[in-house]
Amino acid sequence: MALLIYSKNHPVADWGAAIAKLAPDLDIRLYPEIGDPADIDVALVWKPPPGLLQSLPNLKLIQSFGAGVDGILADPNVPRHVPLARVVDGRLTVGMSEYVLLHVLRYHRQMETMLQNQRNRTWRWLPPVDASERIIGIMGMGTLGTDAAKKLLPFGFQVIGWSRSLKAVDGVTSFHGDEHLDGFLKLCNVLVCLLPLTPQTRGIINRRTLSLLPRGAYLINAGRGGHVVEADLLHALDSDWLSGATLDVFNEEPLPPESPFWTHPKVTVTPHNAADSIPAHVAPQIVDNIRRLQKGQPILRLVDYERGY
Ligand code: NAP
Ligand code: GLV
Repeated sequence: MALLIYSKNHPVADWGAAIAKLAPDLDIRLYPEIGDPADIDVALVWKPPPGLLQSLPNLKLIQSFGAGVDGILADPNVPRHVPLARVVDGRLTVGMSEYVLLHVLRYHRQMETMLQNQRNRTWRWLPPVDASERIIGIMGMGTLGTDAAKKLLPFGFQVIGWSRSLKAVDGVTSFHGDEHLDGFLKLCNVLVCLLPLTPQTRGIINRRTLSLLPRGAYLINAGRGGHVVEADLLHALDSDWLSGATLDVFNEEPLPPESPFWTHPKVTVTPHNAADSIPAHVAPQIVDNIRRLQKGQPILRLVDYERGY
């Protein structure tokens, strides 16, 4: 069984080593050392060059390096008859919840104002706001959104979620479907985007949807850059509609040096590492899927090509 590994973002040699440790029998090939493309059974990829997957005639499984698969589905020639699996990993999930909590709490505790005051040597008491007065809205109540929502609740925040289907998460008010999006947005003091990027969600954070948020709302985007119409976000920040934004993901990554987000006083930029796939944690589930393939058992964590996630 031959496994091809391709990613520009991940340390592929480390991934190869972590997988080889668990499955020494595997024939692991690091791109571009493919050898005969007909040998490849499984491709572990992140944003593969368009056409790469199609060029592997005996491919039986496409495995994403991460939770999101938009970088794979961006290839119009991805062989859609081949099962596509994604990562669902406890450590990654915890990492995302840490990220969401960190930035919700920064907003809640008015940390930017405090830091600004410190820089100006200004001792200014800020009236506290009770967490119960803050409504945190999570777009995307899947693996990551649900965990983040559950971890926000013990702080006393009001937590609401929006997804395609109705959810029943104790303590979280569920909104679902396009018809309930506006009602959801109107409530969010903090909007957290943890959606997958699909044709339906591309550009979902735009002038219209931002204008529905209460004045002074804060945006945390750790979904994908394509969810945000960046010019519309800048307008919402500069017109003082939004109080700030934390952005982990961007339309263009790495974020180009000329991007206004780098220096925007209301923006926190992080380099797409809200929640990373770590080889030691994720390699076992990849090897498990390869073993399942060998034994003819169902592949786990499959993506629905039609839904795009
Ligand atoms: P998931 O379990 O598949 O959850 C996706 C959620 O989004 C589901 O609740 C789904 O609704 C909802 N959704 C999808 N399309 C929708 C639509 N058109 N309208 C309303 N809701 C919609 O995915 P996940 O594991 O939580 O990951 C989510 C995303 O996080 C990934 O796709 C990736 O883009 C991003 N991510 C980012 C990082 C980072 O470091 N920044 C790390 C990991 C993942 P239903 O439940 O009703 O289907
Ligand atoms: C990271 O962005 C992931 O999708 O896992």
